[in-house]
Amino acid sequence: MTDTKFILPESELPTAWYNVLPDLPTPLPPPLDPRTHQPVSPDMLGAIFPPALIEQEMSPERWIPIPEEVREVYKLWRPSPLVRARRLEQAIGTKARIYYKNESVSPAGSHKPNTAVPQAYYNMKAGTKRLATETGAGQWGTALSFACQMFGMACTVYMVRVSYDAKPYRGILIRSYGAEVFPSPSDKTQSGRAALAENPASPGSLGLAISEAVEDAATHGDTNYALGSVLNHVILHQTVTGLETKKQLDLMGETPDVLIGCVGGGSNFGGFVCPFVPDKLAGSKVRLLAAEPQACPTLTRGEYRYDFGDVAGLTPLLKMHTLGHGFYPPPIHAGGLRYHGDAPIVCSLAKDKLVEARAFYQKDVFEAGRIFLQSEGFLPAPETTHAIAAAIEEARDAPAGKVIVFLYSGHGMLDLAAYDAYLQGKLENYAYPDAEIRRALEACPKVEGF
Ligand SMILES: Cc1ncc(COP(=O)(O)O)c(C=O)c1O
Repeated sequence: MTDTKFILPESELPTAWYNVLPDLPTPLPPPLDPRTHQPVSPDMLGAIFPPALIEQEMSPERWIPIPEEVREVYKLWRPSPLVRARRLEQAIGTKARIYYKNESVSPAGSHKPNTAVPQAYYNMKAGTKRLATETGAGQWGTALSFACQMFGMACTVYMVRVSYDAKPYRGILIRSYGAEVFPSPSDKTQSGRAALAENPASPGSLGLAISEAVEDAATHGDTNYALGSVLNHVILHQTVTGLETKKQLDLMGETPDVLIGCVGGGSNFGGFVCPFVPDKLAGSKVRLLAAEPQACPTLTRGEYRYDFGDVAGLTPLLKMHTLGHGFYPPPIHAGGLRYHGDAPIVCSLAKDKLVEARAFYQKDVFEAGRIFLQSEGFLPAPETTHAIAAAIEEARDAPAGKVIVFLYSGHGMLDLAAYDAYLQGKLENYAYPDAEIRRALEACPKVEGF
């Protein structure tokens, strides 16, 4: 086998997304109304989501057709390549075979358009004129502004302040796509103004930016909200990556030993691994490994319980591994991984021991990113370097023929300031203190019966 890139023809682009909900060993605990602690009704979600996405959020169907208009936009970059990382293998001296599914080839530079496009599409179909959203590192905001442009809609992005300041080029790209972008906390919403009153120099957090975007959508009739991760329908859309990878590995005659993705809210990892869950339940030995930061160790040190998805407590309660919705993550450079919770689907799989998790220090992941860049030639996003660090760890001392596949969630061409800090030795390792986690967890709602 001498090929380096395995590219499926466009005719092999999946025609349906895979919904893992009916295959989960434990039924997913429902989202709850924060006031009554009873399951939320579809009408409650109707204030901020279109009917098609609400249906997908709760669907018992295993396969959900991808609309033709969405497949047409997907074809701008999909199917994406599965690449054999031979030079990385040589650089670290492993006997394992390492592959990566390259999602950095999308227009926005990450996996995020896989869900941004269908979310914009279903909203356009429902008559929505504008979408409001949050963004951490800027990848999701870029993806949604691209997707809104594809379907002629307006888009407002609340970008976590530290990233807004550290990554001016993301903001420029978002504006170039025709969207508006504000640093969060902003003075545009009640939640933002309250946070600014408490701390005018607030660095912001993903949870707080979500509060702002949800409030914006809930208070404007023509506006809906779009979430870039966490929710079931987002993971559903992201399964296009896992489905393609499965087909690519099959055609190559490869059987994966371990599948790896980084975890912020869990969407790239969830979409990548969910299509392999039925195989695992049928006895396959493939391991599903989630890589997260020590600075935001949700799966490895969070508690599995109900919590809000945002800081202000505007969202329904979700059962997930959480560090507490009041958790303010330190300003590490992998901005897209600084979220207090994780997708309920990924958390349920972790609780049932179908998914493993490992946490990495910031300096170690940038070192992994450097090794990848200097061997494979591509510059990974800081989030993606967590998956690379995990792949390198899995490859060291691996038996000959071990097959390691990771999701390359995005490029780092707009993250050069972070690489500059790394090269200048300015990065610091940070593990979130136990006492802080306990304190934030104390403020979580106490839910009984679920
Ligand atoms: C490149 C990249 N990878 C990964 C993530 C993490 O998000 P998720 O866990 O939803 O895939 C982000 C989030 O912004 C990102 O930009």
